Amino acid sequence: MRAIGRTTVAALTTLELACVLTLSGCDRPKSEPDVQTGAPLPGAVQPGAMLASSGPAPTAADLPGAASLPAATYDVAQAAAGQRVYQAVCARCHPPGSQTGAAFRTAWNNRRVSDLQSILVNTMPQDKPGSLTDEQYLDVIAYMLKMNDIPAGAALPADTTALHKLKIGVPEPPPAAPGQRQRQGQ
Ligand code: HEC
Repeated sequence: MRAIGRTTVAALTTLELACVLTLSGCDRPKSEPDVQTGAPLPGAVQPGAMLASSGPAPTAADLPGAASLPAATYDVAQAAAGQRVYQAVCARCHPPGSQTGAAFRTAWNNRRVSDLQSILVNTMPQDKPGSLTDEQYLDVIAYMLKMNDIPAGAALPADTTALHKLKIGVPEPPPAAPGQRQRQGQ
């Protein structure tokens, strides 16, 4: 619901802005925010009012839309191929362990796989962005999921639209008790 609200508000604001910019005499209601300063006019209903009711605005990492998506899995062949790519290309800058643990969880849990894909394709390897094939990037993502104890299962889809509908679901860290291991991939 909140995501839909945001979209509507954004669309409304754009529409209002378009009216102002073109001075086309849009039928504007009297109580509107002052577009110059963003300050509300007295009595104006704030477009964001119902969104701002509780706490700070959600960040990209915790938008409810992404958290409620199904968690991505990968197949073991993808992860194995990804491990080879990672070791050949990524490991010289990202030593073992650097893409795992609390840091990875904080950065990526409940975000869309397509977000990670887009960052990797556009920025990594840092000295030669975009230099891998689409499949190699996908395999590396599979390996990163595996490194973070995400279970194997259905293959990661090659299609970015499908990756947009899957989240990265990093399992809770295992309890500190000795002898206990987190569940492994199948
Ligand atoms: C030449 C060194 C280098 C190589 C090779 C490299 N990286 Fe990076 N990577 C970096 C640096 C430096 C950063 C930190 C950049 C930053 O945060 O602005 C980074 C950041 C990242 C991040 C975090 C990005 C973010 O915005 O959260 C990920 C994920 C990542 N690298 C994955 C990879 C993968 C996967 C590969 C192999 C395909 C790879 N990197 C290859 C240097 C490298």
